[in-house]
Amino acid sequence: MQIDSGVSLKPYNTFGLPAVAQTLVRITSDADVRRVVDDPKLGHAPKFILGGGSNIIVTRDMPQVVLKVEVRGMRIVEERSGAWIVEAGAGENWNDLVEFTLDAGCPGLENLALIPGTVGAGPVQNIGAYGVELKDRFESLDAVDLVTGRSVVLGPGSCAFAYRDSVFKHALANHSLITRVRLRLPRPWRPVLGYLELQRKMAETGIASPDARQIFEWVASIRRAKLPDPAAIGNAGSFFKNPVVTPEQCRDIIGRDPEIVHYPMPDGSVKLAAAWMIDACGWRGKTVGQAGVYEKHALVLVNRGAAIGSEVMTLALAIQESVYGRFGIRLEHEPVVV
Ligand code: EPU
Repeated sequence: MQIDSGVSLKPYNTFGLPAVAQTLVRITSDADVRRVVDDPKLGHAPKFILGGGSNIIVTRDMPQVVLKVEVRGMRIVEERSGAWIVEAGAGENWNDLVEFTLDAGCPGLENLALIPGTVGAGPVQNIGAYGVELKDRFESLDAVDLVTGRSVVLGPGSCAFAYRDSVFKHALANHSLITRVRLRLPRPWRPVLGYLELQRKMAETGIASPDARQIFEWVASIRRAKLPDPAAIGNAGSFFKNPVVTPEQCRDIIGRDPEIVHYPMPDGSVKLAAAWMIDACGWRGKTVGQAGVYEKHALVLVNRGAAIGSEVMTLALAIQESVYGRFGIRLEHEPVVV
């Protein structure tokens, strides 16, 4: 366990926002977490759990003890007749895990290619893309309680997974530190190709039955074409959630804006494309201070160079107000703001 003081968080958040952590502890095992809990000084201090920093907006220096999760290791733990079970340390890079499973001949995560961040952050916000969400592949996870130091195994029933949401954003936020995640990749593998952009790739290439590696390449190229690489331009992926409305609300909005991009959900509700609404309000490519709206995708806010967290939040608020003014819909931000 390594403890550092006065650590710049700029390299540890993909938006590249400046802030200093008073105390930063690198966690490489469950035992490290217990050492923090049992420590007379650290034990009672408020904590903040940091993964890959790809879904946070830091607006100020952090007086909390920052626990940077660096638990490593990836392995196929079981090959059952109906599934492969794969386990990874929470500190592993998510895309490395996707590639590891493909290399090991265990497909199922290819639609989630190139999602930034760590494995441990996957369940926190129930990451999802191109028709697959983490909850569809989730088996269980190991976590350590930051008050008692006790290790627990949590199955899907305990995680309250929802659209970009879980118990780890609410009751267990900074209360339970995820150390390892196990995923269940169903056998036989079935490709998930329902998304329009994947259908388009199939039509363009004439490949009607792509294998998992091909789907991985397609998803990676779709993402690269429209989402900024955080190593080049600071960002936190989609900044707002796609709002879900009732069919009546949707009909009302369609009456005024027939073009609005919307997707009917299985439960009868309708998901609206936040990117489309923000774009329709003229925000794409706009800049406030050093924070901006990405030119190629209106749902992504970016760091034009030297942005600070409060500028990003000012821009976010202005976008929320203009979308509310035009559509009567309140956009909810997706990243955690600290
Ligand atoms: N659109 C615009 N203007 C834009 C960008 C998009 O009008 O500037 C339209 C597109 O034409 C499209 C619609 O908005 O019809 C939706 O855009 P897109 O297909 O890119 O998907 P999204 O709803 O914006 C969601 C996830 C992404 C995920 C993609 C693909 C959320 C908040 N975002 O984006 O996840 O990769 O679907 O499944 O649900 C993330 O969470 O960080 C993320 C990137």
